[in-house]
Amino acid sequence: MKNNQIEDYIRTIPDFPHEGIMFRDVTTLFNDARGFRMAVDMLLHPFAGMPIDRVAGLEARGFILGGAVAHQLGIGFIPIRKAGKLPHDRIAQDYALEYGTATVEIHTDSLQPGETVLIVDDLLATGGTAEAGISLVERLGGKVAGCAFVVDLPDLGGRTRLEKMGVDVHALCAFE
Ligand code: PRP
Ligand code: ADE
Repeated sequence: MKNNQIEDYIRTIPDFPHEGIMFRDVTTLFNDARGFRMAVDMLLHPFAGMPIDRVAGLEARGFILGGAVAHQLGIGFIPIRKAGKLPHDRIAQDYALEYGTATVEIHTDSLQPGETVLIVDDLLATGGTAEAGISLVERLGGKVAGCAFVVDLPDLGGRTRLEKMGVDVHALCAFE
């Protein structure tokens, strides 16, 4: 049963969305008041005292976590969205999926050059989504303070990929 570890609040669904995938479902973490608060507090802890201007969340679950982190830090939130959802002037970044590519976008007026941005998402797998988010922030002249995730899947290499870019990576738990 639950003993205050983040991973204990995360549900695993075998064979979703494809056979062979162990899907790490954080909706059970979000659904638990204590678990959700703990996750948000732990996500921002490594960055406490750092001069962070904004939090950027990666669609979709990064919005839930990133919004709460931004509120807690008392700073603004930037949504990094899948293509075609943002209504104002935007730039796009393609990234590789297992099969094919996807695109994420950011509003060009969502940060000022020189501002420092903390990127938040629920899960780090290959790192493709986070790398695209980092690129968008940097293309607007922002500096990435780091990336914070609830779950790392180390076998998929995302942490190594982001650290090679010089980005500070924090995750609250890992599943092999
Ligand atoms: C999941 C997860 C991350 C991403 C991680 O989102 O929430 O955003 O995959 O994978 P990566 O490190 O290999 O890029 P998904 O793309 O499934 O989109 P969703 O949030 O819309 O479900
Ligand atoms: N995104 C990529 N791999 C995932 C997994 N195993 N669980 C949840 N989201 C994922």
